[in-house]
This record gives sequence, structure tokens and C-alpha cells, in this order.
Amino acid sequence: MKEPYLIAKDIYKSYDDIQAVSGVSFQIPQGEVFGLLGPNGAGKTTLISILTGLFEPSQGNVVIDGEDLKQNKLHAQTKIGFVPQELALYPTLSARDNLLFYGRIYGLRGKHLRERVASVLELVDLTERANDAIDTYSGGMKRRINMAVGLLHEPELLFLDEPTVGIDSQSRNAIYESVQALNKMGMTIVYTTHYMEAAERLCHRVAIIDKGKLIALDTPQSLIRNLGGGLVLLKLHPRRFSAITEQGKQIPAVKDITQQDGKLVIHAYQVQHALVGILEIASKIGARIKAVEVLEPNLEAVFLQMTGKKLRNN
Ligand SMILES: Nc1ncnc2c1ncn2[C@@H]1O[C@H](COP(=O)(O)OP(=O)(O)O)[C@@H](O)[C@H]1O
Ligand SMILES: [Mg+2]
Repeated sequence: MKEPYLIAKDIYKSYDDIQAVSGVSFQIPQGEVFGLLGPNGAGKTTLISILTGLFEPSQGNVVIDGEDLKQNKLHAQTKIGFVPQELALYPTLSARDNLLFYGRIYGLRGKHLRERVASVLELVDLTERANDAIDTYSGGMKRRINMAVGLLHEPELLFLDEPTVGIDSQSRNAIYESVQALNKMGMTIVYTTHYMEAAERLCHRVAIIDKGKLIALDTPQSLIRNLGGGLVLLKLHPRRFSAITEQGKQIPAVKDITQQDGKLVIHAYQVQHALVGILEIASKIGARIKAVEVLEPNLEAVFLQMTGKKLRNN
């Protein structure tokens, strides 16, 4: 079997008394798009900072392309591209001049540098705007230039930290398409996000992390399949919770019933049958349902089932 391209072994990291990453291990084969999915504060940025050698872990180690990161950081850094959530771009310089500047920091020179700049601009689909100053760019376009910077030295392994937060849909799609194009060319990609759409659409495998711990790791399809049906969220007066929970659990299509943020969460093998059964019970006991939300089988539902929380608070 081929050696995994990246190995993370029992990684821990704490900041004073905050345990940000708590015993995380996984392996990533070459050519995979690997998702790190978790809510804000889960430890994604901390973990990615350790995998790129920016931070030392409190415990554990990282192997990249057969070399221990701590022993041979230089080896890793030539292989790794890192696209942080924020990057200092010079606002009055053009995108091209910003890229030329960062390219020189990476040690690129002359014709090779100019070719690399042209190539990454093409990849993020901003060639036509290359000579405009960065401060005329939208947030999403800046984020795409950010990504272009991380690609200048032709890394084999690219880390993207929440690349689509707060940007317009055109830039978001451009970023998704770039990720797919890079992966087709053979690049291994680690993609952190708290958007389940991105994880489902882009990632071959997804590691779900919460409170610094890896709680599941599989293909999106398997994670969703293991969930079974889906979830139904019901808003109604809390004094009705116990009656509906008790009787609702008798419905064959209902797997379990829990509570979250003042709502009843029906874990269903089959959503339609569960919903009809629950509504019948509610009507029989005269409970007024204020709102119904159906979560189709997706990664959001997987996360909710595993943690009792939503991925996003909005
Ligand atoms: N530099 C820091 N100093 C202290 N605590 C931090 C620092 N960076 C992150 N944290 C804390 O560590 C936890 C994980 O944060 P982070 O890795 O940024 O998560 P995510 O990227 O998933 O939102 C959070 O509780 C956060 O408040
Ligand atoms: Mg983060």
C-alpha cells in the first residue's frame, strides 16, 4: 500500500487553560480532498496551523510525504501551500504586483515567477482584473487572490482555512471550481469549513470535529447513510415535550427523540412517516405545533445527531 501523504498522530494543543485540539489522529492519501468540518471554535484553525508547521503541538506529531514535520520543516514547507482566512494584501497595489511580491518571498524569480503569476491568476479566474488595485476588489475576489498566493510555489498539498466565509456566490463558486481543478491535477487538499454544502460537494472524506475532538471520519455518503433517515425539528410548548416524546418513540419510523434549543428533535428512520405520526399525536393531545423544520439527510443532520448542536448558529 502507498504511504499516506499526511499523517497526523495524536495531536494535542492547548492555549493556557483552553484545550483547543484534543488527541486528533488521521491519515490523508495523496490526491484526496479532505474536509475538516466543525462549528466556530471547534479547533480547525489550530489544527491546520499545526499541520502546516506554524504552531508546535503540545503533543503528537505530523508526517508529510514521509518526513517528520518537526525534524524537517524545510522539506514540508516546499510541499505545502497554506491559504489562511486572512492575508495581508497591499490595497494600493494591483493583484499582479501583490502576487509578484509574494512570489519573490517564496524565492521565485524572473520568467518563472511571471509565468507562475499568470498561471495562478488564470486558475482563480481573475486574469482580466489582474492590473486593478486590490482595493477595487470585492471581499470574494480578495479571497481568490489569497488562494492564488498559496499556489505560487506549486505545492503538492494545499491547506484552505474557511475560504468562502462571508463572500458572494460567484466567488464562492470560483473557489469551489479551483479546488476541483487543482485536485484533478493531482493536488492533495485539506479544506476546513463550517458549511456542510462545501464539505458534501468537494470532499472525498470529511472529518467532523467538535470541541477539539474528531468525532467522525468517513465519506460524506457513508456519514449520511449511517444517519438513517433524517431529522424533524418541532417547536411547541415545552410542557408538551414529555407526552410527545413518550408516545412518539412508539412510532416505528422514529429512531429517537431528543431536545435542542427548546425544540424537540425527532430522529427518523423515515421522515415522512415519522412526521405524520408525530402530528397525529400532537393533534390527539391538543398540542399546538408552532413550527416544523425538516432536515434532510445531510452533514448538518449528522452533526446535529452526534453533538446535539447545529453547525452554524445563524
Ligand atoms: N491564540 C489563541 N489564544 C487563546 N485561545 C485561542 C487562540 N486561538 C484559538 N483559541 C481558542 O481555541 C479554540 C479553537 O479555536 P480555533 O482553532 O480558532 O477554532 P475554529 O478554527 O474551528 O473556529 C477556541 O476555543 C478558541 O477560542
Ligand atoms: Mg478557524
